[in-house]
Amino acid sequence: MRQALVAGNWKMNGSLENNEALLKGLLEQLDDVTAKVAVCPSFVYLSQARDLLAGSQVGFGGQDLSTEASGAFTGEISAEMLNDFGCEYVIVGHSERRDNHGETNELVAQKTQVALNAGLTPLFCVGEHLEDRESEQTEAVIAAQLDAAIETCGIDAFENIVIAYEPVWAIGTGKTATSEQAQEVHAFIRNRLAGHDQNVAKQTTILYGGSVKAANAEELFSMPDVDGGLVGGASLDAAEFAAICKAAK
Ligand code: 13P
Repeated sequence: MRQALVAGNWKMNGSLENNEALLKGLLEQLDDVTAKVAVCPSFVYLSQARDLLAGSQVGFGGQDLSTEASGAFTGEISAEMLNDFGCEYVIVGHSERRDNHGETNELVAQKTQVALNAGLTPLFCVGEHLEDRESEQTEAVIAAQLDAAIETCGIDAFENIVIAYEPVWAIGTGKTATSEQAQEVHAFIRNRLAGHDQNVAKQTTILYGGSVKAANAEELFSMPDVDGGLVGGASLDAAEFAAICKAAK
């Protein structure tokens, strides 16, 4: 179901001490937030997040998952393990997984399906590199990423998938896409879904990610096809992240 959502991707950051201060600080500042809020800590801190967030309005999730259910897969984490810790979400296909771990469109599509099978909401990331944008390949890249998931999961699944558009050139660079650039790609994504099913397209939540901060969140989130954000660096600061959450309606 389409909803305003702000999710923090903590990436490989955090410590028991810092996480506690961050989550306690965040919970104190969410009073007038109407959007759904979630955080995705490193796997090893999921039980800490579960305990600190119990009974609160903040959901949580993993940053990746295996396509396998169990067995001899050293270092991997299964969907059921994420469920075991009460995760609601899991990020799939982040560009840092695609680029640093060779995750293909097909693998990301499979991970999305495995997450759905387990009842997790995938935060399914798509996005182009700078050279794609400069060579006018943005739409072709996004289409290929999206089509692989549509083919594997089926269009109806997108009512339960959250898409995150994260232009790779805007991640961690301080170089945010303009609200017009974001809207253009978000509309492209929604139209592509609508080509399969218009109702599903209207119901799909599409987040923007890439250098979202308190200072630019309101403008980005005011665009008609931008339903919220997937936030990296700024999600590590309670006041900054809370301000971003307030900007999503
Ligand atoms: P930054 O907000 O640090 O640019 O990271 C965005 C991101 O990759 C979220 O998944």
